[in-house]
Amino acid sequence: MTALFKALGFSIALILVFASVTYVLPQVRGEAPEEEEVNLGELTMDDFVAMGEKLYRGKGTCTLCHNNLGRAPDLLTYNVVSVSLERMADEGYQGQAGDAETYLRESMVEPSAYVVEGFGKKGTNDTESPMPAVDQPPIQLSAVEMDAIIAFMQQKDGNPVTVALPSGDDAPAVESGEGAATPPALAQNAEEALAKFGCAACHSVLQSESPVGPSLRDVGKRLSVEQIRTSIVDPKAEIAPGFPPIMPEFPNMALAELNLVVQFLAQQDGSEQ
Ligand code: HEC
Ligand code: HEC
Repeated sequence: MTALFKALGFSIALILVFASVTYVLPQVRGEAPEEEEVNLGELTMDDFVAMGEKLYRGKGTCTLCHNNLGRAPDLLTYNVVSVSLERMADEGYQGQAGDAETYLRESMVEPSAYVVEGFGKKGTNDTESPMPAVDQPPIQLSAVEMDAIIAFMQQKDGNPVTVALPSGDDAPAVESGEGAATPPALAQNAEEALAKFGCAACHSVLQSESPVGPSLRDVGKRLSVEQIRTSIVDPKAEIAPGFPPIMPEFPNMALAELNLVVQFLAQQDGSEQ
């Protein structure tokens, strides 16, 4: 019961945040309510930045260490984008980044590439970071979630946001340099497909939690197979009550991938997996 109320409170807070972003336009126009004309289904960069801030304070657990208690530098108090340039120029820098966006991503997945002076693990002389790689369990942020956090870190000090909005074009995280030009591999099962398209950035599904969209853990109980399919191929067709209309389309999702995801979601009935 309390969990339900907490979830409700969370959604209401989110509605307030997103409502202010997404509903300004039609209200300002004040004309006939032709909502269809306003592209409410598009995820805007403002939505994405807001999502990044939520992840920063929530699932990412960043504020657990990055706060004013001295455990880690408080990223909210300095321009981490301009500081990135100094880090990369420092002789102690071990990473590969050539720009601030890459430095920030690297900081999350390979924290020891640069260790801020005085913040290293005890006894390592600032060569090893105590920060966990946040793309690994237990935090396990997806590539899209890390992009959202980077967008937030860039925008908070008025820097241009350089990350791209999530879309069906998102290749699965191809980390080895060679795969860059090859088309994204077809997901072989539902888990891979959910990861490939970043669904967990907005939905609680499998091991991930996100309050941005409805939980998918019991979606099979709430929606028919056809409704689930429509929700994915045409997110604007029907907006789940109480949620912001920000789910993107996935034009590059192969039919086989769609079928895997729909089949998987239809089986999610809220019971433990
Ligand atoms: C367990 C504690 C902990 C958590 C959780 C944590 N960090 Fe860190 N982080 C640190 C410490 C300590 C440093 C400084 C040492 C270093 O440079 O690695 C740091 C450094 C950084 C830096 C480099 C800052 C600079 O000035 O160069 C960035 C960027 C960063 N963290 C982002 C994040 C983000 C984003 C999250 C959440 C997704 C996060 N961290 C979660 C402890 C943490
Ligand atoms: C940027 C955030 C975002 C991403 C990414 C996203 N969704 Fe959504 N999704 C939402 C939101 C918000 C809603 C509720 C509003 C609506 O119905 O459009 C939603 C609704 C849904 C629904 C209907 C749920 C219900 O209870 O009515 C399904 C099913 C769904 N999404 C599946 C997916 C799948 C599968 C993916 C990945 C391929 C995905 N979503 C990616 C935000 C997102």
